[in-house]
Amino acid sequence: MSQQTDSPPSNERVEAQYDEYLMPIWKNLNVPIKRASGSTVEDFDGNEYLDVFSGISVTNAGHNNEAVVEAAKAQLDEFVHGCTYVHPNQPAAALAERLAEVTPGDLQKTFFCNSGTEAVEGAIKLARKYTGSKEVLALEMSFHGRTLGSLALTGNKSYKADMAPTINDVAHVAPPYAYRCQMCDGGPCSCACAEDVERVIETHTADDLAAVVVEPVMGEGGIIVPPEGWLSRVKEIAHDHGALLVVDEVQAGYGRTGEMWASDHFDVVPDIMPQAKGIANGLPLGAFTASSEVADAFEAGDHLSTFGGNPVACAAALATIDELEGGLIENASEQGAWLSDRLAELEADYDVVGDARGLGLMQGIELVDPDETGPMGVAPAPDAELAKSVGKHLRERGIIIGVGGFHKNVMRFQPPLSISRDQLERAVEGLRTAVEATRDGGA
Ligand SMILES: Cc1ncc(COP(=O)(O)O)c(C=O)c1O
Repeated sequence: MSQQTDSPPSNERVEAQYDEYLMPIWKNLNVPIKRASGSTVEDFDGNEYLDVFSGISVTNAGHNNEAVVEAAKAQLDEFVHGCTYVHPNQPAAALAERLAEVTPGDLQKTFFCNSGTEAVEGAIKLARKYTGSKEVLALEMSFHGRTLGSLALTGNKSYKADMAPTINDVAHVAPPYAYRCQMCDGGPCSCACAEDVERVIETHTADDLAAVVVEPVMGEGGIIVPPEGWLSRVKEIAHDHGALLVVDEVQAGYGRTGEMWASDHFDVVPDIMPQAKGIANGLPLGAFTASSEVADAFEAGDHLSTFGGNPVACAAALATIDELEGGLIENASEQGAWLSDRLAELEADYDVVGDARGLGLMQGIELVDPDETGPMGVAPAPDAELAKSVGKHLRERGIIIGVGGFHKNVMRFQPPLSISRDQLERAVEGLRTAVEATRDGGA
């Protein structure tokens, strides 16, 4: 063993190993985690942090949720791998049955994979197989993953630089982004962006549309909640054109918005529903669920994943759903309502807080420069530098928050759904102090 490998792990050492041996990924790393529990993570120097970002909205049942860990350990003692598509495994069977119960409407049959991007890509393949068509419509500012198919749908060029070409035949339409809406002329929302889906289909596609793919609440785009009526109108338009509605619940699903699925807020049943992130509280698992009619378009051999439906991950997912339904979704709804009021107060108190929005425990505030006008003359200019400073200020004071959005100016609250009121209060007070301290260029 090398001397390097012999030395004990430390924050410094883990970071040095990242520099030396991992491919140079985006450098916005928070502290290395030694252990985590609930909404708290601890680094190798013994520092504790309040985590209101859940590893990008994943540990919905709380870091190291005891019931989830126990379920995974019990399955580890039985067997770890058999390939779900060669040897049927009981946890995958039970999870698929459970998903048929907890997903809306007639959604019934599931395919298991390992991640969100795979879930989205599989959903596109299924939509193509079912409809016999090829084209896909997605939203500008959306995020659906980084493999070439889902990257083609992702409506943000910053993820695509140097990576093109992706798959062909994808058109994009404006997102339902009320704060920076360029359609309703600053007047009341008339859901013109939903109607525009029709125009874009007519203009940019060639009567071969397989799917319209949307996030029910846009996560990476900056916690963008569509107006009432938008999702159902988009579904109607998709169906009018012979296409399926794929609702990507990868980030907004699994209780995050205070309902099991974000689609539930809008009373819309997706045709295909990709899932991942919160599904197994951190174990790698992805899935997409469809009605039997749609799912049965797949024939043996049409799609496969060696690791998909891993029994340990599926056992963890079953325990995660129990935990979510056992009170955590309710907590997300309750704490989310409280948080929403507090963030609205920040918007009222500070002109650099341009907009506060969200559902349940998927909330964000947009930081802006009130003296500059934003893109296309709509709303104040996004202030990404301020958002970066606020994030750093919080991190240095022991709070981990998300910084993101299409314009990189949104502070993202996506804590474990088990978070307590005291912890949320600490995070909101920290945010207020951070905005106060950094808004005039302070650190
Ligand atoms: C809505 C949505 N879809 C898909 C993905 C891709 O998931 P993964 O990173 O697991 O591939 C993400 C990731 O952030 C997401 O937010």
